[in-house]
Amino acid sequence: MKKSIAIYPGSFDPVTNGHMDMITRGLKLFDRLIVAILHNPAKRQALFSVEERIEMLEEIFKDHPNVEVEEHSGLLVDYAEVKGARAILRGLRAVSDFEYEFQMAMMNRRLNRNVQTVFLMTGLQWIFTSSSIVKEAATFGGDVKSMVPANVNQRLIEKFNNGPFADKKK
Ligand code: PNS
Repeated sequence: MKKSIAIYPGSFDPVTNGHMDMITRGLKLFDRLIVAILHNPAKRQALFSVEERIEMLEEIFKDHPNVEVEEHSGLLVDYAEVKGARAILRGLRAVSDFEYEFQMAMMNRRLNRNVQTVFLMTGLQWIFTSSSIVKEAATFGGDVKSMVPANVNQRLIEKFNNGPFADKKK
């Protein structure tokens, strides 16, 4: 039988527990998920290089054969087509996500009608978790270990080993 494949695209700079929650939910609907790092032109300055982001994601999913980690530098819908994916998975947190997500889903539909965007709600505990807020807190030495996978927390500590909580976080 043909396997159902979805692309879960994003900047993942870095991956958070909110993303992890989406991947867990996505795997209940699809046989395979491709976690794809794509370029978001609105986000100019990344904290982690694409290579670092891939490394972190690969560490996390090394024992999950149904999750692949890749990067793509072009259009999302073209990538979905090439990978044989008929769905793009995106997470919705609060109402504030909706407008941007709606615009992107409509644009993607216009670009390729064979690819559907599927929205899932994040778990309540991740409603306020985002890569940006995690980075901001970590930049000033804040403890974010409850919001990111352990290897990401470690990388953040290595990048910003300067805050008052640096020792406690390890
Ligand atoms: O995690 P993000 O930054 O919200 O993810 C946005 C992303 C990377 C999925 C989006 O910017 C994207 O799809 N970029 C690739 C270019 C593209 O196809 N854009 C959408 C249609 S214009």
